[in-house]
Amino acid sequence: MNILITGGTGFIGAPLVIKLLELGHSLTVLSRQSLQSRPQLRYVKSLEQLADNATIDAVINLAGASLADHRWSAAYKLEILSSRLDTTRSLLQLMQRLEQPPQVLLSASAIGFYGHHGDELLAEEGAITPGFAQNLCQQWEDLALQAQALGMRVCLLRLGVVLDAGGGAFTQMALPFRFGVGNWLGRGDQWLSWVHRQDVLAAIVFLLEQKQLSGPFNITAPEAVTSRGFCDAMLGHRRTLVNLPVPAVAMRVLIGEMADELLLKGQRVIPQALQQAEFAFEFPDIDTALADILHGATKVA
Ligand SMILES: NC(=O)c1ccc[n+]([C@@H]2O[C@H](COP(=O)([O-])OP(=O)(O)OC[C@H]3O[C@@H](n4cnc5c(N)ncnc54)[C@H](OP(=O)(O)O)[C@@H]3O)[C@@H](O)[C@H]2O)c1
Repeated sequence: MNILITGGTGFIGAPLVIKLLELGHSLTVLSRQSLQSRPQLRYVKSLEQLADNATIDAVINLAGASLADHRWSAAYKLEILSSRLDTTRSLLQLMQRLEQPPQVLLSASAIGFYGHHGDELLAEEGAITPGFAQNLCQQWEDLALQAQALGMRVCLLRLGVVLDAGGGAFTQMALPFRFGVGNWLGRGDQWLSWVHRQDVLAAIVFLLEQKQLSGPFNITAPEAVTSRGFCDAMLGHRRTLVNLPVPAVAMRVLIGEMADELLLKGQRVIPQALQQAEFAFEFPDIDTALADILHGATKVA
């Protein structure tokens, strides 16, 4: 397949590019960076570089400014929004002008789509509570769904917290444990719906190949953990000198609004649509995932 990817240099995108090349696909990656193209892998800085008669079978949309790298000032919140919505709008414009529209769009979203919930189990039709991340995901998904009007299959990737070594949330989550400090956040009873990065890559390939599938897909491991549960699981792999909570008030002072939006409140998500489609998770529980991430048996990148 000829596949166009945005965000193909990121924590998910970079190993996805390697995996798709290994599967024999030809890729075009939209990137703001100056990167060297090579056979089967073309980098473009603008979608204008693609001719109207270009052949693109599938589009995977992962681009967006990181939610965790900066404090959420008003200006940065605008960047979080515009980096996703503007990229998705440009993709729509491209797909509209192509002589032959692609068959499928896989577009990233996040479990933040549901807003915050307590212990309630959330499948794809789960209830929504308003908030910044919820509003972002809603707008992002609504734009992506416009590709349906072109006859395209659209899958919405509602990603959980993607865990792996060498980047993403895990690097920050594991840091205190490296210094002998086990910790959980706030009360520790908030849910962390996580997923191993290798299962994310496998789910994306699965959704690419299963042509009968469309709509929203929670991409989270079948067994979410609480913040305290994550700490307990880490303690099975890392010796600590002290285990203690990071007080909610300290987190709010340190990182502001992001503390409540991403860390002190959560959602307990189940990947119902993927499981109904018989997708098999390689890392269904946190112990298996941590064993792989911390002891590194099966790395892809
Ligand atoms: N990782 C997670 O735990 C997680 C969880 C839920 C949802 N997601 C979503 O999944 C997508 C991929 O996640 P990821 O962890 O791979 O993200 P990432 O590592 O932060 O990479 C995202 C890519 O987006 C592009 N980008 C960054 N800032 C941008 C900006 N201001 N304007 C346009 N493009 C920009 C970058 O590509 P270039 O530098 O090449 O342009 C970057 O490689 C993101 O949209 C993210 O919101 C991720």
